Amino acid sequence: MKILLLGSNGQLGYEAHRTLFCYGDLIAVDYPEIDFTKPDEVVRLIKKINPDLIYNAVAYTDVDKAEQEPEKAMLVNSHTPGEIANYCKKNNVPLIHFSTDYVFDGDKNALYTEEDIPNPINVYGKTKLDGEFAIIESGCDYLIFRTSWVYSMRAGGFVNKVIQWAQQNEILRIVDDQIGNPTWARMLAITSTSFIEKNKNNIREFLYDNNGIFHLAGGGYASRFEWTKAIIEYLSKDHTINVKDIVPTKSNEFPTPAKRPLFSALNCEKFEKKFMMKIPHWENSLKLMLNQ
Ligand SMILES: NC(=O)c1ccc[n+]([C@@H]2O[C@H](COP(=O)([O-])OP(=O)(O)OC[C@H]3O[C@@H](n4cnc5c(N)ncnc54)[C@H](OP(=O)(O)O)[C@@H]3O)[C@@H](O)[C@H]2O)c1
Repeated sequence: MKILLLGSNGQLGYEAHRTLFCYGDLIAVDYPEIDFTKPDEVVRLIKKINPDLIYNAVAYTDVDKAEQEPEKAMLVNSHTPGEIANYCKKNNVPLIHFSTDYVFDGDKNALYTEEDIPNPINVYGKTKLDGEFAIIESGCDYLIFRTSWVYSMRAGGFVNKVIQWAQQNEILRIVDDQIGNPTWARMLAITSTSFIEKNKNNIREFLYDNNGIFHLAGGGYASRFEWTKAIIEYLSKDHTINVKDIVPTKSNEFPTPAKRPLFSALNCEKFEKKFMMKIPHWENSLKLMLNQ
């Protein structure tokens, strides 16, 4: 089976590269070899590769910058995934794609299920929801995994930012009113690909039968404040950490260009039942990643 991984340098794509290569002939590409602002070129490249399965880890993920670049975010998160899905429909190629907890407005104050109605409150969330619609409307066989608060040791993620802040400051002020599921990119890569091995001889039929949106994120949930406390606690033996106190604060003290949903944690039971997998609790994944 020929598998095409789009976006092999991102947090998820980097880890997916290391799991997918066990399951078939893997071709992994990233920017600038593919540029999702140029949908025709992306589809041309896919045609040339002629894959049996596409795993799309490309996304425009800068939530604040998306407010200033809505057209670019829409191309990368919606238009091009829609064109890929049209290609998939025409050529009977199954598609695995990722979306976000930010399709929700955060007003439910309880875990979101796949039955809840999305209502994004920022550009990023709107473009990701539009991407979901484009894929569904194409009629292709797809799995869309909505995930949340993805982290890894790759540059830029929240865990790395906390480590850097904790090396440079004695006091950290972290919001305790934003709640989500911290999701280790490696856990996400493993859980979103392991069914491929079991179904590699009938992957098209498997996606045809199991087609749909699934919530897939770290088990349990936490505020950014609780997440930060856990990171610092697990790093307690690290002598580069200078922080002495972490002070809870509120989102309105840190205005950002994009509004964020306050409670966007996802209920992942549908995934666990369908794929017969237990998603590890976010704290266990965090400990493993920090090598504690
Ligand atoms: N990160 C989160 O907290 C989070 C939360 C919820 C859902 N998700 C979803 O989970 C999935 C994986 O996220 P992630 O954290 O792994 O994202 P990421 O680290 O930002 O990776 C995104 C990848 O897309 C590539 N990319 C961006 N613009 C591109 C373009 N114009 N053409 C081609 N490639 C482009 C990036 O390449 P460069 O590095 O070269 O730019 C990078 O390899 C995405 O669908 C995202 O929406 C993420």
